[in-house]
Amino acid sequence: MPSVLVSGASRGIGRGLVARFARAGWTVLACAREPGAIDLEGSGIERFALDVTDPESVARLARALSGRPLDVLINNAGVYGPRETRLGAIDYDAFRAVLETNTLGPVRLTEALLANLRAGERKTVVTLSSIMGSIALATSPGGLLYRTSKAAVNMAMRSIAAELAAEGFTVVVVHPGWVRTDMGGPGATLSVAESAEHLFRLIDRLRPSANGRFFAHDGRELPW
Ligand SMILES: NC(=O)c1ccc[n+]([C@@H]2O[C@H](COP(=O)([O-])OP(=O)(O)OC[C@H]3O[C@@H](n4cnc5c(N)ncnc54)[C@H](OP(=O)(O)O)[C@@H]3O)[C@@H](O)[C@H]2O)c1
Repeated sequence: MPSVLVSGASRGIGRGLVARFARAGWTVLACAREPGAIDLEGSGIERFALDVTDPESVARLARALSGRPLDVLINNAGVYGPRETRLGAIDYDAFRAVLETNTLGPVRLTEALLANLRAGERKTVVTLSSIMGSIALATSPGGLLYRTSKAAVNMAMRSIAAELAAEGFTVVVVHPGWVRTDMGGPGATLSVAESAEHLFRLIDRLRPSANGRFFAHDGRELPW
């Protein structure tokens, strides 16, 4: 069966993705800052420690997986940062922290696991972005830090898609829908299981013709 690595697997959408891929029989490498917090059982689930903002943590994971093919990498770990982002109230330390997790983290992890992905059959990298990272759709105020980090990761992944296209890679960014997690809040429209189901179907069907594209959970293409 194929293999998938999920960052930020301790809760929310990451946890849901681990459960869904494991149910389909995939080998799932579930990564979290506190791997003991991953409360899912299953013969195909392996737990690893990973803080995507910590280069040594990423390097340790890469060493642990050295020589092991990986079909799909899912860059899921993310933070929203402070809700208050009006001009005059921007917290630049918090801004840097959001960029470290949401933008640099996925690039760092993709780079570190490139040899594993090259050795895999699917050669697929999926990054959980957001519709809030669409510059075209950003017409209302708010969420400046988060939006900037997701727009930046969109560009990073589009660049990586172009760089790896000739090798048959499929590198995409996806919006998971508005999901009831700690980040999405209780009023969101989708449960974690619903979002994970949509994402599983989307990711399982990805082929190189999708390389460099931005999808919503339901398969619609989103404007950059
Ligand atoms: N929920 C939504 O409606 C929504 C909408 C659009 C996009 N997204 C995106 O979907 C992804 C998952 O969101 P979510 O709603 O599931 O968020 P969540 O419930 O807040 O969970 C975030 C996950 O990321 C992990 N994480 C944060 N910083 C990390 C780091 N430095 N290293 C490793 N893991 C880290 C957290 O681990 P800890 O438990 O250790 O903190 C947690 O497992 C994010 O990229 C988010 O931007 C979500």
